[in-house]
Amino acid sequence: MRGRAQNAIAECLRLAEYTEEPGRITRRFLTEPMHAVHDRLRKRMTELGMSVTVDAVGNMRGLWEPEGASRKRLIIASHVDTVPHAGAYDGVLGVCLGLELVQNAKERKHPLAIEVIAFSEEEGVRFGVPFIGSRAVASRFDPALLALKDADGITLESAIRNYGLDPARIADAALDQNTAAMLEIHIEQGPVLEAEGLSVAAVTDIVGQTRMSLRFAGHANHAGTTPMHLRHDALAGAAEWIAAVERIARDTEGLIATVGKIEIEPNAANVVPGVAAVSLDLRYSSDPARAAALETLLARAGEIADRRGLALESKRLMDQPAVPMDERLTAFLVEAMEALDLPPKSMPSGAGHDAMVMAAKVPAAMLFLRSPGGISHHPDEAVREIDVENALRVAASFLERL
Ligand code: HGY
Ligand code: MN
Ligand code: MN
Repeated sequence: MRGRAQNAIAECLRLAEYTEEPGRITRRFLTEPMHAVHDRLRKRMTELGMSVTVDAVGNMRGLWEPEGASRKRLIIASHVDTVPHAGAYDGVLGVCLGLELVQNAKERKHPLAIEVIAFSEEEGVRFGVPFIGSRAVASRFDPALLALKDADGITLESAIRNYGLDPARIADAALDQNTAAMLEIHIEQGPVLEAEGLSVAAVTDIVGQTRMSLRFAGHANHAGTTPMHLRHDALAGAAEWIAAVERIARDTEGLIATVGKIEIEPNAANVVPGVAAVSLDLRYSSDPARAAALETLLARAGEIADRRGLALESKRLMDQPAVPMDERLTAFLVEAMEALDLPPKSMPSGAGHDAMVMAAKVPAAMLFLRSPGGISHHPDEAVREIDVENALRVAASFLERL
């Protein structure tokens, strides 16, 4: 498996070259470099003897059906889009490992049909809403999403058409009713496995998340002539709220809250900001506690806006409940680790993953591998060859137990 691990890492580094920004890894939903990713994956899937399709939201799907295969199939999947200035492994490693596992199953003449899916969009960067790829496969795609616009004013529907796909066919992306299980292999993206000196872990559940946009609107005015007490400074209001978000999250055990994006109008040094539009990413393992925290944060935003004479609009972009992974499949992963003399670690995921969307339709399991430095969503994101090899060994043993 060492060779297969090296292949998978090499493929991730090769796919990392397909980017919107030379010198950085940025690959958003159905942007130009996705064509090169699809060409490369199509070539590899075809060489493996898989039938290859691209569905209407740009998920690339390779199906391996060996002679005498059971009708039931396993999906091995993850995403191939990235955040801006990303690392080379988030998502795409799970797809590359899926192809290595097909190769391994072929050589072992394992009678299991395997569908490898490269989801076209999980991060939610281009249109603000994540999981577009897996929503379509899980028949959870809301057609209203087609009207969403990206930073250039291009709608999601146009992005699909511009890529050469037909938005009228999205329903056809639904997963095959003979699908019995899904496995997603993914870097942990956090510090736990490294802190405990562990290579891999089974994921017990994925925390729920809410994504919001908030817009503070005041009065743009001259920075030199507008007295401080006469201002309605939208950015100062947003800044006060952002500091409150951090303080409330720090003081609430288990709550994770991030304001990662901000857009100012007119965004000029000598103009009092008229508008500040910000994002909110809220995570919590308990759904009721996450809802209560959201209420607190929105109430605080309203209070700040009222006191500063600002108008406030807030919009919920997504609400994804916490999702437990399938117990039976997760037990198979733990058994596989024990059979391979690896510590049978299991843990929750603070990051969102396509498995949490697919779990509504098919029993799903996730296998984590160590993130050196606990770093992800950053160019220093890395993997260790031995951890990739262990993940392959555990996944191959998992396949034998299905
Ligand atoms: O944001 C997340 O949790 C995932 O990495 N998309
Ligand atoms: Mn990911
Ligand atoms: Mn990610």
